[in-house]
Amino acid sequence: MSSNSGKRSDSIAIVGCGGFIGSHLIDSLLAATPYRIVGIDIVSAKIGRHLDNDRFTFVNADMHDTAAVRPWIEQCGTAVFLAAICTPSLYTTKPLAVIDVNCTGTIPLVSLCAQAGTRLVYFSTSEVYGRTAASAAEGEDEAAHLLREEESPFILGPVAAQRWSYACAKQLVERYIYACGQERRLDYTIVRPFNFIGPRMDFVPGIDGEGIPRVLACFLSALLKGEPLKLVDGGKNRRCFTYIDDAVEAIVKIIGNPRRSRGHIFNIGNPANEITIADLALLMTEIWRRIVPEACEKEILIEPVPAAGFYGPGYEDSGRRLPDISKARTILGWEPRTGLETALTSTIRAFVDRYRPAVRKG
Ligand code: UGA
Repeated sequence: MSSNSGKRSDSIAIVGCGGFIGSHLIDSLLAATPYRIVGIDIVSAKIGRHLDNDRFTFVNADMHDTAAVRPWIEQCGTAVFLAAICTPSLYTTKPLAVIDVNCTGTIPLVSLCAQAGTRLVYFSTSEVYGRTAASAAEGEDEAAHLLREEESPFILGPVAAQRWSYACAKQLVERYIYACGQERRLDYTIVRPFNFIGPRMDFVPGIDGEGIPRVLACFLSALLKGEPLKLVDGGKNRRCFTYIDDAVEAIVKIIGNPRRSRGHIFNIGNPANEITIADLALLMTEIWRRIVPEACEKEILIEPVPAAGFYGPGYEDSGRRLPDISKARTILGWEPRTGLETALTSTIRAFVDRYRPAVRKG
């Protein structure tokens, strides 16, 4: 895209376009909308198929390189911020990088949007709600467990519980954006994703990444390699897994409805897909056996492990993350439609296609 082609409102800058969410968002924006897209990232393996598209410009730049990012934020009508370090194992082992990328490195870009009059769609996290332990007490009315954008408290642990370095970093950016809305007329929308899953998420350790990915990729890596699935603290915690196609539909609605979504925070999640991690392991094993029939001959082990042994010291967890999505329903007319079994089947199939040949060779 040349520096002065088209109207500002026709173009979107996506900072951190090369990850899981960015790759699906670009698929959808190029297929179903007329926007021109500028994608900024240091990686592009997941978006390789779009690099030759006339409506897509890839800028190989680090988010910290303000001189490289600034012109694109200035000439696009909307900026979507996806750049993040968002794997829990890193919150305790690389907290400085987590705080930098998710907060101190992001704030100058928020400021740039305010200066340039560029609308900002910021990806925060469902983790800002923190432990959520207070609302997870058994036996309470279900409505008392719902996490609400405008009402629920953020319950983070002490400083040494570095699990919350990420939640705290994202929370400060939310507060900075809110303040920019108030004092500098920043036009913004904040998205809080609840465990998006789908093809191309994360990585398989030893094949296309190192370390501990999020739970879906951990379990799939174990299934691919014939290793035990590990249940941190017995797998008692619950998550609401949201299929990426549903999530992208919500994001596209936010992008396409600036007036309606201005100044709002949206939980984007699927409360109907709530499951404990222990039950998730069982369900994934069952689907795996259906997709990979030869796996039926082998025993698949599922074993509980203590959190400190799995993640190291400083790890804590959210007990339950049940989103109230009535704002997204009412304001955006959005409804997640993909059930957990369908979402997992599609994700598992994609992992089998992508990684099984590599695991067999290794
Ligand atoms: C994630 C990340 O913090 C963020 O990427 C993101 O904002 C958000 O949640 C999300 O994906 O929307 P969390 O849900 O704790 O946090 O991430 P996972 O690593 O997927 O863990 C889910 C649960 O599974 C945790 O209770 C964890 O302890 C457990 N787990 C994880 C296992 O039992 N076994 C494993 O092998 C891995």
